This record gives sequence, C-alpha cells and structure tokens, in this order.
Amino acid sequence: MSAADQPFVIAIDGPAASGKSSTAKLVAERLGMHHADSGAVYRAATLARIGRPGAPESWTPGSVLHEVAGVTLVRAGTSFEIRLSGKVVGDELHEPAITAVVSLVAKMGPVREWVNELMRSCADEGPIVVDGRDMGTTVFPGAQLKVCLIAHADERARRRLLQRLGRAPIEDEIAAETAALQERDAKDAVQTRQAPDAVVIDTTHLTQGEQVERIVELAKDRLARTSTHGAT
Ligand code: CDP
Repeated sequence: MSAADQPFVIAIDGPAASGKSSTAKLVAERLGMHHADSGAVYRAATLARIGRPGAPESWTPGSVLHEVAGVTLVRAGTSFEIRLSGKVVGDELHEPAITAVVSLVAKMGPVREWVNELMRSCADEGPIVVDGRDMGTTVFPGAQLKVCLIAHADERARRRLLQRLGRAPIEDEIAAETAALQERDAKDAVQTRQAPDAVVIDTTHLTQGEQVERIVELAKDRLARTSTHGAT
C-alpha cells in the first residue's frame, strides 16, 4: 500500500479539557470522516473495571484487560459508539469517579496496547479523525495531519465547568477545576507524547468554530497535496 492509498488520518492531541474531542467530532462531520475518541476508550476500560471488586490501587493490567473484553466500538453516523456489554455508554464515562482513576488505568502498558490496536482498526475502515494524547506519535506516526490543541489551564477549566454545570462558573469553582486539571495533566505526562511535526493551535482566545475552521483548512490543504502526490 503506498502512502497515498492509506486512509487519511487527522490526529488531534492535547492536555485535559483542551477541547480535543468536541473539535475532532466537528472536524469529522465537516469533512465526512469518522471520529474515534481514544480518551473515551480509556474511560470505558475504567468503567468496565470499576464495576468489579477491588480498590483501584489493587487493579492489575490483567484484571482490566479481562473486563475490556466487553468493550466494543461500532460505527454510528460519523462517530464510533462505545458499547459495554452491548450497551451504548456516553455520559457515564465522564462521571467524577471515572475521571479520578482513568489516568491509573491509562498508565498500564497492556491496556495502552489494546486501545492503540482498537484505534488502528477504526482507521482500517476509512478516513478518520482521532483524538487523545499520543495519537500523532505512538498510534499514528504517519498521520497526514497532526494537531496539538493547547489552552491556558484556567480557560480549559472555565470551558469544562460551563459544559458540566450549564452556567458560567464562579472564581472559586474555576480555581478548584484548574487545580484538578493540572493534577491530571501531571499524572498523564508519562503517556503524553507530542509529535514534533504537529501544528500547535493555542485555543485560549479562539472560539470553537474558529479552531474547527483552522483544522478543516489545514486538512483540505493536506488532502489536496495527498491527491496531487498520488496522481504523479
Ligand atoms: O477530555 P479529557 O481531556 O478530560 O480526557 P479524555 O481525552 O477523555 O482522556 C481521559 C484520560 O485518558 C486521560 O486523562 C488520560 O489518562 C487517558 N488518555 C491517555 O492516556 N491517552 C490517550 N491517547 C487518551 C487518553
């Protein structure tokens, strides 16, 4: 398979609450591609394990892998639905109990290999937008477009609270959420790998529409270059 024959991959990486998933979803919709969210898969693995006996500190990679046998990704519209024992899971993946321990699960090498394979198998089905922390490096080093979304921690906190509470947060709430995001960024630093060839977009002062537009334009440019390259 030549590079021009490979499904087009857009890899969007970035820290906690940088807007990767919502941006990736909208970019996929605009370009008629599919979106797969690796963070949601780590969350689904955590949800699968949390329902079984044992405190998180005692979880082993083997015990998590045993439970992820029930996790599947199924194409639905422009997304991949995540199912646990056949049931679609969504909002429950973002419960505080899952967010509190997901980094612990994401540190487990065998679990990462399982997620990476799952993401690559999604790309086998056609052009895809993937998001996470190591999509443009470990998982899709050959991605045609790599983007790193960053934003100031207090702005990331403000956006996440707005989404969660459905109202503008007060200063104390923003301060507490900023600390929680920074703590998770520190825990995730081990598995966060930014691609040196990623286009870094600081979204602190951008609207979601603007950041989607920038990525769509970059993708159109890369797509045009890929097809020109393929034709020669
Ligand atoms: O949306 P948010 O940034 O809060 O997190 P997420 O993308 O849903 O990811 C949840 C967790 O999964 C992160 O805190 C990481 O521990 C882990 N993760 C990872 O290790 N590698 C990825 N490629 C994606 C997520």
